[in-house]
Amino acid sequence: MMDPTKPSIMLPPQASTQAAGYDFLFYSLTALVVVCFIAIMGAGLYFVWKYRYRGGEHQAVEITHNTALEVAWSVIPLFVLLGLFAWGFKDYISMLVAPKDAIEIRVIGKKWKWSFEYDNGATSADEMAVPLNKPVKLLITSTDVLHSFFIPNFRTKMDAVPRRYTSLWFQATQKGEHQVFCAEYCGDDHSAMLARVKVLDEAEYAEWVKSHAEVGKTPVERGQKLFQVKGGCVACHVTKQDQPKTIGPNLFGVFGKAEKFADGSGLQIDENYLRESIEYPQKKIVAGYESASPMNTYKGQFSDAEIGDLIAYLKSLK
Ligand code: CUA
Repeated sequence: MMDPTKPSIMLPPQASTQAAGYDFLFYSLTALVVVCFIAIMGAGLYFVWKYRYRGGEHQAVEITHNTALEVAWSVIPLFVLLGLFAWGFKDYISMLVAPKDAIEIRVIGKKWKWSFEYDNGATSADEMAVPLNKPVKLLITSTDVLHSFFIPNFRTKMDAVPRRYTSLWFQATQKGEHQVFCAEYCGDDHSAMLARVKVLDEAEYAEWVKSHAEVGKTPVERGQKLFQVKGGCVACHVTKQDQPKTIGPNLFGVFGKAEKFADGSGLQIDENYLRESIEYPQKKIVAGYESASPMNTYKGQFSDAEIGDLIAYLKSLK
């Protein structure tokens, strides 16, 4: 007997309460398709053989119609398809409507990172902890373009849409780590837009959420957290001396630096420049980054206080 908690030839392991039901629908559809394929191809081949040319001359017989056959091949598929629709719709609704007692986690997609927020203020990037055997509802959005949050082992996938919330829920049945993919092509690093779901015992989960809730007390600590998690700036900027730069400039020692821009102008970097670069990143592009993948505006995503914290953090990078 196949162990559904292990990957099969066709599908990854089943690690949520809903997975088995979806797989049953998937295998049923596949079986139906295989049966229809064999029946149609078989009939075709049979007639090719039965009416093969065997010499001599033949007069074609004119056939106009066969009412009984035509009704049968229209009505039977109609009911089969309606049944499949009802079955799929029922499973789809069961994925959308979360149980009332589900834990809610906010998921934010952003080129090219997933971040997570918990009710107690805990935040995390790239890794989402959830408790074992407890319903979890995800409230999903995007800060830029369309993404899609996909956990194959749970058989759940939902679009992350800018300026709108979508949701799904699941109940994990297997401890350990499960891969998350972005399933909507969203730009250069779409394929690297990955995360992990960590399924933990209830006690481990409580500990994890508590340990991720420590809010930095100084502006620099708060700014660092904004930089890493909410802004996801780490996706494109490194912050340590000698670290190879990624998509955007290395921000080590950025404050007070004399910078040259693509349009030939120059400036000593101050708070006003940093703020402008967060809100209007295309205004003054550092020379050499003209053809780099452009930074999105963060205007409206940070409060003034948060921008202040971010600038404090950037100034501390020295
Ligand atoms: Cu985000 Cu693909």
